[in-house]
Amino acid sequence: MVNRITNRCDIMLFGALGDLAQRKLFPAFYQLERAGLLANDSRILALARRELDTAAVRKQLLERLEQSVKPEEFDRSVAEAFLQRVEYQVLDFQDEKAFGVLNDWREGGNCERSNELIVYMATPPAMYGVIARNLRSASCCTEKTRVVVEKPIGHDLESSRVINDELGEVYKESQLFRIDHYLGKETVQNLIALRFANNLFASQWDQNHISHVEITVAESVGIEGRWGYFDKAGQIRDMIQNHMLQLLCLIAMDPPSDLSADSIRDEKVKVLKALRTITPDMMESYVVRGQYTAGTSIGKPVPGYLEEEGANKRSETETFVALKVEIDNWRWSGVPFYIRTGKRLPEKLSQIIIHFKPAPHYIFDPDQKHLANNKLIIRLQPDEGMSLKILTKDQGLHKGMRLRQGPLELTFSETFEAERIPDAYERLLWEIMKGNQYLFVRRDEVEYAWRWVDQIIRNWSDGGDPPKRYAAGTWGPVASIAMITRDGRSWYEDA
Ligand code: BG6
Repeated sequence: MVNRITNRCDIMLFGALGDLAQRKLFPAFYQLERAGLLANDSRILALARRELDTAAVRKQLLERLEQSVKPEEFDRSVAEAFLQRVEYQVLDFQDEKAFGVLNDWREGGNCERSNELIVYMATPPAMYGVIARNLRSASCCTEKTRVVVEKPIGHDLESSRVINDELGEVYKESQLFRIDHYLGKETVQNLIALRFANNLFASQWDQNHISHVEITVAESVGIEGRWGYFDKAGQIRDMIQNHMLQLLCLIAMDPPSDLSADSIRDEKVKVLKALRTITPDMMESYVVRGQYTAGTSIGKPVPGYLEEEGANKRSETETFVALKVEIDNWRWSGVPFYIRTGKRLPEKLSQIIIHFKPAPHYIFDPDQKHLANNKLIIRLQPDEGMSLKILTKDQGLHKGMRLRQGPLELTFSETFEAERIPDAYERLLWEIMKGNQYLFVRRDEVEYAWRWVDQIIRNWSDGGDPPKRYAAGTWGPVASIAMITRDGRSWYEDA
């Protein structure tokens, strides 16, 4: 059973009218309210530049909640009760003097200055430093204040250091909660349970038993009106530097000695440090970048990336990346991780496939030899669950010793029927309120991830090939299939 958070929190939400707050944060807070998890006196101060008052913002939030929360989960009385916690304050985030008003909120009304303070910066990263400094000038924060920031932390190693330094000038690392929302997903957390609660897997999790690993994070959507942001980032900064490398770390890391934030993060950092640098001469066989052209997505015709609204027709930004990643340590020596992610792929699907090595001596029908390796398929979304493909004898007299591959199946929605799978942000907010950092990214993780990704980006800009085209609704450029085929393997859906 999940307990109500006993500590009362004051939450200052910068960027409260923005897309992230409206689409993800308020619905997540609402769900925590609905589950009875918020402490009675916890309050939210919604901050943005637009001239509105609390009543207008509450009304707007109610409408948005009604649209975004599933009808069967929407309860108007709960939403109204939740919105009583929310007040709105117009604020120019650059105006140091204006920040005094935040203290009025902290001290006014029924406010308890003793409430813990959470500062959530749902703003572009360029604002983090200035908000932090202005909060310091206004003496809003204490040593216990928790500060939440979103990705992207910079666009390369250097810019991420600037942002981290600016935050570090005001807050200690133990106060900083850097979000990678993939870490809040139930199934991503489950990777830790799967690996470290089951000795069955723990003893098989290395180069002696695993031949290779596939990680796919596919989206059917395009860039959804975010051309301005996305074109500067591209898929490598938007997805690989953070979500994909985090997934890779959780699969590849050594067992932490406990579940504390630093034990887990120390192990992830060791993986990031062991990633083999992709040098210019490796680009052709280790990296594929693609850009979608017009095609069909989920049965509907859709434009190409260069025809999206606001597009620069000559952009060479990638919307797809496939990589062969090698980890230079004892556990993973010789085990490639093939990872790929893209927009406008055939479906929304995130899955990890662990391909185990075949038995050392094969004695069955030679025609079936290709079946002879077990696979563990971990479905992160949708249809969350796991499937272990094992080999059994085909039934029937006439089948002799023919083999058949069948799944040992665990589908979460069927097995744990009563439990609703919470959205990542619900869990992340909940952990922030409890002050637990284990689902958040430490500064050195961000920086080692940038260091590795920067090298690939540099190789592209130093005369690398332009992105290869792929039609929307397909699994990316054929070069991505060629990359894995060269190693005598195939992506799971092609097998
Ligand atoms: C975000 C990226 O971090 O993750 C988006 O900026 C992407 O481009 C999104 O669409 C994917 O998240 P999810 O939870 O829908 O898989």
